[in-house]
Amino acid sequence: MSVEAAKPDLTFVNLVHQSLRTDGARLLGSVAALGPGQRRSRLPAIRAFFDQYRGQLLLHHSHEDELFYPALEARVGADRMRLGELAHQHEALDAALQAVSDSLASLAGPASDFPPARTTACAALSEMERSLATHLDLEEATVLPLLGSEMPAVEYKRLETQARHATPRAQAQFLVPWLAAHATPDQRKALFRSAPPLRLVNLVAGPRYRRLDNALVPAA
Ligand SMILES: [Fe+2]
Ligand SMILES: [Fe+2]
Repeated sequence: MSVEAAKPDLTFVNLVHQSLRTDGARLLGSVAALGPGQRRSRLPAIRAFFDQYRGQLLLHHSHEDELFYPALEARVGADRMRLGELAHQHEALDAALQAVSDSLASLAGPASDFPPARTTACAALSEMERSLATHLDLEEATVLPLLGSEMPAVEYKRLETQARHATPRAQAQFLVPWLAAHATPDQRKALFRSAPPLRLVNLVAGPRYRRLDNALVPAA
């Protein structure tokens, strides 16, 4: 086996990050574009997509906190991977997601004044996007290169398998078509090669995912 082939395949985590970035911006654009007359027609579908998005971000955090971070810490130590900062950023993101959830609930309330409630929701989504970008940038500068250089491919694969088994079926049915939709053709091939059942999940769950996705404006 070549040295190159022994490196972990980071396709999955890179796709999660890409999908979170793209759809954080789409959520903000979708709420910003809402008119007062769309509180009942369009907002519930945007809310439904946000709930899935939030679930994916929390799931990704929990897999990192419980599996990937401890395994990397055991190899390189907490300081080198900036574990304290990363853990703090996960907490900040949890709070940002809760603020978005609360603001969308206010926007949906028939008694709320729509334009200021929309401004508040957009501010909460902007803050979420900012926190997310800060966090993903740090992970991509620290954790991902260290996983690539310090962790054997076989150990990384084992962690990914554990993460997959720890993913509730309902969340997998959003996750797999979501990642496939945000992948380049080469990434999609690598995704399906990494665990063959993912192709079938994508086929079965794709239509429902696409209905949810239709709620958002296209990526800019
Ligand atoms: Fe993270
Ligand atoms: Fe991450």
